[in-house]
Amino acid sequence: MLIKKYFPPTWLAKTFIHLASLLPLVNLYWLAYFDELGGDPVKEVIHFTGIGALNLLLLSLILTPLAKVLKQGKLIQLRRVIGLYAFFYGLLHILNFLFFEVQFDFSLFIDEIFDRPYITVGMTALLILTALAVTSIGFIRRKMGRNWQKLHNLTYLAGALVVIHFFWSVKSELTSPLMYIAFFLFLLYLRKDKFRRWIK
Ligand code: HEM
Repeated sequence: MLIKKYFPPTWLAKTFIHLASLLPLVNLYWLAYFDELGGDPVKEVIHFTGIGALNLLLLSLILTPLAKVLKQGKLIQLRRVIGLYAFFYGLLHILNFLFFEVQFDFSLFIDEIFDRPYITVGMTALLILTALAVTSIGFIRRKMGRNWQKLHNLTYLAGALVVIHFFWSVKSELTSPLMYIAFFLFLLYLRKDKFRRWIK
């Protein structure tokens, strides 16, 4: 009851999400421009956008169970904007890889996608996120009818692929990717009833 009373209006929550998603990026590229990102700025930028995309994706997935627990349906309205920022961060992540790591060498980029399995997995996740972002546009969503929900269930597959991509990309220090995998499995557990319905 208390949460319901003090929950901010949707426009305010969305404004907060815009600021909390965009300001860190402005700061990141500002620091990169002035060469203040430490010894390996390319790694830092790829890391920041990758982790940012993953955090936002997981946040978008936890909103539905959270809305149920808190009895706060308004939270559902925030899924779209958070999901779109997850896509935006993911896009910047691969653009950073394309521009700074392989330096516009498109044939090397394509080779990387096919030769390095963790990048193949990351690319597959990005393709799914792209489809989800495009179909979140109002009139496309309406045209898709019930197929829209079916397609958007792929968010879980994208989440699984991204945590695998993260785990696979690290050479040592597995604690962080393992914690993300554990959290993702917890999210799947929270939606177990939904998955049971799929199987039936
Ligand atoms: C073609 C697609 C992608 C490419 C080429 C790519 C490339 C990379 C690279 C080079 C790294 C750093 C590995 C290292 O430190 O050596 C990385 C890490 C990571 N990526 Fe991606 N990625 C792709 C897609 C994605 C997507 C779609 C997401 C999220 C939505 C994502 C999330 C992450 C995360 C969370 C990490 C770990 C961050 C770190 O510790 O550095 N990646 N990726």
